[in-house]
Amino acid sequence: MIVITGASGQLGRQVAHALAERISPTMVTLGARDPGKITDLAAKGFRTAAVDFDRPESLATAFAGADTALIISGDAPSDIRIRQHRTAIDAAKIAGVGRVAYTSFTNATPASLFPFAAIHADSEAYLKASGLAYTILRNNQYAENLTLAAAKQTGLLALPGIAGKVAYISRADLAAATAAVLTQPGHEGKTYELTGNEALDLVAVADMLAAQWGTPVRAQEASLSDYDKALSDRGLPPFVVAALVGLRRAVAAGEYATVHGDAQRLAGRPLETVRAYLMRA
Ligand SMILES: NC(=O)c1ccc[n+]([C@@H]2O[C@H](COP(=O)([O-])OP(=O)(O)OC[C@H]3O[C@@H](n4cnc5c(N)ncnc54)[C@H](OP(=O)(O)O)[C@@H]3O)[C@@H](O)[C@H]2O)c1
Repeated sequence: MIVITGASGQLGRQVAHALAERISPTMVTLGARDPGKITDLAAKGFRTAAVDFDRPESLATAFAGADTALIISGDAPSDIRIRQHRTAIDAAKIAGVGRVAYTSFTNATPASLFPFAAIHADSEAYLKASGLAYTILRNNQYAENLTLAAAKQTGLLALPGIAGKVAYISRADLAAATAAVLTQPGHEGKTYELTGNEALDLVAVADMLAAQWGTPVRAQEASLSDYDKALSDRGLPPFVVAALVGLRRAVAAGEYATVHGDAQRLAGRPLETVRAYLMRA
């Protein structure tokens, strides 16, 4: 049995679909805080369970008898999320799960300029120290992070760090690589760097959009303080604002620019290019 936490999320759903291409859905338990959100997947034959990092008993029940678990990282502030991931790893250990895979992030080091990197650094270290067999999936930024609505309206991609390159990868490609890791032997003790096949800055993305839309699109450098204010004005919680501002600083510093072959090798097929992603977005 494979158990997935956070299966109600955008990545978790795609992992479920990718798993269904490899094994019977009856061999997969999808965990969500509210299983009512994934009744569509239950209808496809997946088992479902209520799984909440803040309810250790829910993790114990879901992990019982699991050969493999995928812990998809949560979305709480750093201190809470570190505790939640540790709780999930402890529960997997107590339940005797055969192997735990964890969705980390590119450059998951405390030295990163991205505040949430410290969460992933802690979770990676805690998992490695647990004695469980593990696989770490360091996911680079989703191609879906390229939000295009404002650019379409204004012709501007205005963000800090426009010259920083990112090896974007779509959730679907991450899911394909993840499904391989969950269903194949030989991934124990491995840390995979899951990136797309090209690293692009926002100037290149703007050029692609301009060609596609047939209208001028330009990347424009925004100051960190203007970006912080714009995010705050949208009503985002301060910890999210700080994370997104830090993310742009990390982008500018080149933290996400390295291309690795792991994702394509694991997926066993060519990855979607950013250009192709933008065409369908
Ligand atoms: N690589 C990237 O660019 C990138 C970007 C954004 C986020 N991330 C990270 O990758 C994760 C997955 O991405 P995504 O696109 O699937 O995000 P998402 O759509 O926001 O999904 C987040 C998932 O986390 C679950 N979750 C939140 N709190 C939980 C808790 N206490 N116990 C159990 N599950 C909990 C949510 O469950 P509910 O449905 O119950 O809320 C949801 O299924 C994110 O949570 C975040 O850690 C990565």
